[in-house]
Amino acid sequence: MEQQKTVFITGATGGIGKATAITLAKQQYYVIIHGRNKEKTVAACEEIKSISGNENIDYITGDLLLMSDVKKVAETLINKYNRLDVLINNAGGIMDKDRKETAEGIETTMAVNLLAPFLLTNLLLDVLKKSDDGRIINVSSNSHQLNAKPDFDDLELKNNYNPLTAYGNAKLFLIWNSQHLAKKLIQDGYGNVTVNTLHPGAVATNFGVNSNLGSLLNFFGKLARPFFKTPEQGAETVLYLATSEKVKLISGKYFENKKIKTASQKYYSQKNEQLVWDYCKNRINNIK
Ligand SMILES: NC(=O)c1ccc[n+]([C@@H]2O[C@H](COP(=O)([O-])OP(=O)(O)OC[C@H]3O[C@@H](n4cnc5c(N)ncnc54)[C@H](OP(=O)(O)O)[C@@H]3O)[C@@H](O)[C@H]2O)c1
Repeated sequence: MEQQKTVFITGATGGIGKATAITLAKQQYYVIIHGRNKEKTVAACEEIKSISGNENIDYITGDLLLMSDVKKVAETLINKYNRLDVLINNAGGIMDKDRKETAEGIETTMAVNLLAPFLLTNLLLDVLKKSDDGRIINVSSNSHQLNAKPDFDDLELKNNYNPLTAYGNAKLFLIWNSQHLAKKLIQDGYGNVTVNTLHPGAVATNFGVNSNLGSLLNFFGKLARPFFKTPEQGAETVLYLATSEKVKLISGKYFENKKIKTASQKYYSQKNEQLVWDYCKNRINNIK
């Protein structure tokens, strides 16, 4: 009999993450969800158990703005399970109108959307390498095409901060880091672990709902909302990458609607990809 697969999903208290968790629970995966708020995470865990009838649902809490919490989340998972087949870096979102730094001094958009998945993936990589079908799925966004405008001398936008640019940049860098890791895994002989990214579509979730992006953006956001995908529809490409045999050997690609798409090449060069990877490595190493 095939061994039950374990999946860890960040930001699974609502939206796309929770919809993904429910479907995987119904498919008898061992589902570990993550949330930053304990009450909300426990409630989501119970809801997933009750909807799916699957009792093998657990949770880990932590604020992914803080790399110290990311380390604790990874440690908890390794100490308790020491196995993982699928890692879904889903938590993320757009931040406020005004630039903010975390207690560790990192710009908040970059912290949660880029550095947290970078560090979590790195810390869980040895466990994933033990799987015969390890999959890392990074939830990006087409905002990398629409809004990214990186300044390679000022990656955290100390000057000219704009929340949409910061978000687009972080999601673009997430794609580059995924490509970079995919190449490294092949070079190091770990073809059993793949890493891919995706845009889930415009999905009616809590995304941006509590941000103070400005009345005009919020107005258009509300107008467009009825045309958005449901969280279940938004989860479809995530689920495809997590479960389909068709993508078992595909790595380093960007997907939309369950199909490979070419990510924006506007700012891409191998040098820039390496620069962002090195920035993430150095930023993480320099946090006490
Ligand atoms: N919705 C869209 O149209 C859309 C489009 C493109 C890409 N995406 C991406 O899809 C992913 C899922 O978003 P969603 O639409 O499902 O939005 P959502 O409903 O806001 O869900 C985001 C999840 O991430 C968690 N999260 C946010 N900041 C966190 C932090 N600092 N520490 C820990 N957890 C944190 C949230 O926790 P709380 O419940 O505690 O807030 C929530 O569980 C995100 O990466 C987003 O950028 C969404």
